[in-house]
Amino acid sequence: MKTTRRLAATALVGVTALTLSACGGGDADTDAGGTTTSGEGATLRLALNQTEEHPSFIALDNFGERLEEATDGRYSIDVYPNETLGAQQEALQLVSDGTVDMAIVSGTQLENLNEDFLVFNLPQVFDSVEHQMRVIHDEEIVGDLYSSLEESNNVTVLGGFTQGTRSVYTTDAPVETPEDLAGKKLRVQESDLHIAMAEAMGASATPMAFGELYTGLQSGVVDAAENNEVSYFTQKHYEVAPYFSNTNHLVGLDYLVINTDVLEGMSPEDREAFDAEWTAAHEEHTDLWQTATEDAIAQAEAGGATFTDVDTEAFRSVLEPLAEEFITNETQQALYDAARAAAE
Ligand code: GCU
Repeated sequence: MKTTRRLAATALVGVTALTLSACGGGDADTDAGGTTTSGEGATLRLALNQTEEHPSFIALDNFGERLEEATDGRYSIDVYPNETLGAQQEALQLVSDGTVDMAIVSGTQLENLNEDFLVFNLPQVFDSVEHQMRVIHDEEIVGDLYSSLEESNNVTVLGGFTQGTRSVYTTDAPVETPEDLAGKKLRVQESDLHIAMAEAMGASATPMAFGELYTGLQSGVVDAAENNEVSYFTQKHYEVAPYFSNTNHLVGLDYLVINTDVLEGMSPEDREAFDAEWTAAHEEHTDLWQTATEDAIAQAEAGGATFTDVDTEAFRSVLEPLAEEFITNETQQALYDAARAAAE
């Protein structure tokens, strides 16, 4: 609790400094929503916890450039990578209170605001990236879910980027079956479902912010983590946890969230351009993903990492009960059924 508050305060100090420096030029100002305005144009600040090489940064940066062109400079986007504006939990809070305009947050963060989001964080809900993207951009399936945080948190969900398939990696030896994770401290995202997921896989779960993980693995606070190959490489986790075991236990999901007042402050024309360019951005992200994954594997291997296969069926069967255990209301069941019905 204490740590969270301290982190949030640090993030706010950082944001204030950024705001002040944005105002330093004389003709820039910050409106009530936190958006930096300069002359006619508004610069939307977007919080990201990935590096500048990551496909999410690339697709969002391009999104900003196209948006600026499409709105004749009325809107642009500044992407702040590497948790500069805070870890995801804090970034989400900053979007909610309007200090930051947009953020990419993992589905696990939204699960903490509305438990219906947990359905898309379940291990076996999506069969592939294509399946996932089809479901999470289908207005009929996700319309109510994505607007569900507007009243309570002043946050609108716009859609998402895939996290690809997530697998387990360890500091000391590869993993082949859930038994191999016995006694290991496995870092998970801050989510009850993912804590249960780690335990079902045989490990003991340690929730931790993404940016703390390299040091966590290096110092032995945790012995294992789970993520996709792209983050494994771009965060340099392979340096401290060189055994990547292809559990492929989950197709993870990131969301783009925006402060609802900022979104509603757009003219119909600008909103149309914004939506069109965001669609182009998540399509670009999906296109980049496969190559980024292959490159990440090759580069991590060159850096000493090994990628090994596991007993997939053993992992699948320990994770299967989670859906029944965690789906507790009709909305969740309907989302789950719709997602499964969209599988090939
Ligand atoms: C992925 C995902 C991030 C998330 C991270 C994590 O990298 O894209 O949004 O924060 O996993 O495990 O925390």
